Amino acid sequence: TRQLPQDEYEYVVIGSGIAGLYTAYAASRSGARVVLLTKHAADDSNTDKAQGGIAAALSTSDSPELHLEDTLSAGAGLCDREAVSILVNEGPDRVRDLIEMGANFDRKDGKFALTREGAHSRRRILHASGDATGAEIQRALTERVRGDGNIRVLENHLAVDLLVKENVCHGVLAMNCRNNDLKVFWGKAVILATGGLGQLYEHSTNPDVATGDGIAIAYRAGAEVMDMEFIQFHPTVLYLPGAPRFLISEAVRGEGAYLRNRYGDRFMPRYHPLAELAPRDIVVRAILSEMDTTASQRVFLDLSHLPVDLINERFPTIMKTCASYGLDITSEPIPVAPFAHYMMGGVKTNLNGETSINGLYACGETACLGVHGANRLASNSLLDGLVFGGRIVEWVKKRNIDFRDNKCYFINEQLLPQSSESEIDYTTVRKDIKVLMSQYAGPVRTAQGLLKALGTLEGMGYINRYNAVSPFEIEVKNMLEVGHLVAEAALMRTESRGGHYRMDFPQPVERWLKHVIIRR
Ligand code: SIN
Repeated sequence: TRQLPQDEYEYVVIGSGIAGLYTAYAASRSGARVVLLTKHAADDSNTDKAQGGIAAALSTSDSPELHLEDTLSAGAGLCDREAVSILVNEGPDRVRDLIEMGANFDRKDGKFALTREGAHSRRRILHASGDATGAEIQRALTERVRGDGNIRVLENHLAVDLLVKENVCHGVLAMNCRNNDLKVFWGKAVILATGGLGQLYEHSTNPDVATGDGIAIAYRAGAEVMDMEFIQFHPTVLYLPGAPRFLISEAVRGEGAYLRNRYGDRFMPRYHPLAELAPRDIVVRAILSEMDTTASQRVFLDLSHLPVDLINERFPTIMKTCASYGLDITSEPIPVAPFAHYMMGGVKTNLNGETSINGLYACGETACLGVHGANRLASNSLLDGLVFGGRIVEWVKKRNIDFRDNKCYFINEQLLPQSSESEIDYTTVRKDIKVLMSQYAGPVRTAQGLLKALGTLEGMGYINRYNAVSPFEIEVKNMLEVGHLVAEAALMRTESRGGHYRMDFPQPVERWLKHVIIRR
């Protein structure tokens, strides 16, 4: 066995969005030594890009029960009621923790200013700097974690594979992305908080780092994954030539904006009684249907009837970004289309974040415990990362694991990336995967398309015969792995529900009130 540099911590946390940062902080508060590995800059996360906000029943006209009902109803029959109950009941305290840690949310007359988003029956979404909520949360958490003597933050460190023996996870093999050096991090608790997989698609609101790494390495190590067919497409992503796929927050509709087709027709009232504030999956399909019938690649978000002061105050980032592409959102409609946004599925966990491998935990978008069902309620994802990340630490503390014997002293040589003779063009393969997934495993699917996708992905399996040696190559290998899982699960589910729509099985089916769980 090659001698690799090694380090030992109590907690090895992988990922630096809200779930990873908060979990690392909670672990440190319990006195533990923590290493937080993140493959790029600490603030390169989906959390940092979040706009709308974080949902919590904090107003006197709201209650956790109402938040629960809204979450269950958006989840289209597949939520785990107990998980949702924990989310909505523990959520307000976790948000208070965030505030204690220095996150500043917008207030009006001394109270939290709360907005609405799709499928919420109350105004319950906290926001910061209008529409830059995630950046504020990321700032506060990153500052806290960086200033914490118990936590070592290692940026540019990619988790390559988990070190699992006899169904116990002992640590992780990581690569320093600056020089491709390998290092082993042993830990009593290894926590995956690596976010989602939006980069599987050609167009996504997610940053480049969202390549499904946590799900891929957990699956490779033998962990169960669940609900991989459920991918949420966000209805309103900027679709302007030359501009990036920038999110136009659902809160814009929450404050009263209308969706119109290319002929100016406000179409949502024809599709759902909640019109623009219908659950996200329903708005996406309505938009796709309008795009189809009007032979257009976009629809338009119209704010022109809203007071300019309101737009200024609530959406300064969106306003500025659109203005930089020559669009004045106070008077001109914003061209938008649905693109990949959030992964409801992931590494299967229980209510304490435990995966099917001992010592391996998952939280945030990487994890799946049924809290979002088939379609996540807007602004529940930041909350999910906080609540279920924090619960992992509580659980590990309670179990009082003996850490003395946590090394497996054994690393399979074959796991180690080493130079190979292959001349694979990983850039092309990465692009091909995105095109394939967008075409056949997007918001509308058929058996024929999914089989084609699976066949082509299988044809790319030669990648696994060679060692991926650089972070970019390892990401492509991970994308191939999770792409496969998405297509497989989507093929299995012969019905339509939430984020999963099958043109050949367009209705929900009672028999399918169950989960697709896959294990290697
Ligand atoms: C948004 O529309 O601002 C995003 C909210 C979310 O994805 O929960």
